[in-house]
Amino acid sequence: MKITDIIEKKRDGKKLATEEINFFIEGLCNGSVYEYQASALLMAIYIRGLNSRETADLTAAMARSGEMMNLSEIPGIKVDKHSTGGVGDKTTLVVGPIVAACGVPVAKMSGRGLGHTGGTIDKLESIRGFRTSLSREEFIGNAKQIGIAISGQTGNLAPADKILYALRDVTATISSIPLIASSVMSKKLASGADRIVLDVKTGSGAFMKTLEDSIKLAEEMVSIGELTGRKTVAVVTDMDTPLGNSIGNALEVKEALEVLRGDGPEDLKSVCFELAARMLELGGKGDVTSCRELVENSIREGSALKKFGELAERQGAVHAPWDKDAMREAAVRYNVTAPFEGYISSMKSELIGKASMLLGAGRKTKDGPLDHSAGIILNKKTGEYVRKGEKIAELHTSSHQLLPEAEAMLLQAYGFSAEVPVKRPLILAYVDSRGVTRYWPEHRL
Ligand code: URA
Repeated sequence: MKITDIIEKKRDGKKLATEEINFFIEGLCNGSVYEYQASALLMAIYIRGLNSRETADLTAAMARSGEMMNLSEIPGIKVDKHSTGGVGDKTTLVVGPIVAACGVPVAKMSGRGLGHTGGTIDKLESIRGFRTSLSREEFIGNAKQIGIAISGQTGNLAPADKILYALRDVTATISSIPLIASSVMSKKLASGADRIVLDVKTGSGAFMKTLEDSIKLAEEMVSIGELTGRKTVAVVTDMDTPLGNSIGNALEVKEALEVLRGDGPEDLKSVCFELAARMLELGGKGDVTSCRELVENSIREGSALKKFGELAERQGAVHAPWDKDAMREAAVRYNVTAPFEGYISSMKSELIGKASMLLGAGRKTKDGPLDHSAGIILNKKTGEYVRKGEKIAELHTSSHQLLPEAEAMLLQAYGFSAEVPVKRPLILAYVDSRGVTRYWPEHRL
């Protein structure tokens, strides 16, 4: 078998056999397939697609490419959660501690930023001393003792995804249903959770821009989960507008802490609380209505916030995460003001994510550095009325030189209108093995 024949086949729109997919993934991991060949195949897949069988084969091959974690030592039903990525998406930082505080163990492997979206591991690393590289023993031990452990994807867990993820990030091959589905589900299968809640983002800041594509992605992943014996449900949530008001690693940790304290932006709270309730439901804590109450209690009583503190301490944080010295603050802050008067009618979230990357919050190359203190605070979002010259955002960075380009990009992201814009709900659909429940457009305001 030759990798060039496989690339050619997919380039010409033909279906790949299971053995060919296995050959590609094995070669990628043992070095006989080069990164430039993998990149070419990724682009062919991006353009030509994969059918459900090919996607399932790719997922299984990627999951098998490394260690298959066994979480059976941790008592209870282990429920994992995964977001397909968005701008300002700090849900894991909120949901993980809530779920753990409610008694369902969280042993979670998370990723770094991808494209214009941030990653949980980069966010946690903005806390001084926080270690995201845990040995297997430490990972399992922490989940057993304090109910929560969050680790970067170890070199051993779905290593094929690790290579492909980094290549996709720099070859414009991210937003493909089969590539996202196989990437997400290979990690979920390898990381050993019994049940899985997926947060499939949709809209201008997501990899899937339309609701229809997002629902298709959700269905594909739910079906892979069910086929492999892991009960999987998906919540399709809005990413037309960034989630919450903060974008950028340390800024997002601060905002997650606000939500755990019972404050914080309403949109972030409602998405996090729904995901946490769905995780608790899969974790056997009752129906979704009573699980929503458990979530509210964990915030009211402070147990979720306390759990975040325990997590940070256990993973090496030098200070409590809410301490003023826990994270570095940006040296440069700059106010962006509204160029027009009117309602903010739209926000191109991807551009906002890119502006935040320009300020230093994301990587330019696959192993490049990032500035944990950089990012954007949005003072006004879609639906709000602004006067010309009013502050709409604050840029945080380490270098004045980065401001002009980032400001121009950010301003391009806003649409203004004289009319109050129609806002769609944050939770747009729910998908499980029984099918799709849509909350939009059926429940149009
Ligand atoms: N999250 C992942 O883990 N993989 C993707 O491809 C996109 C989002």
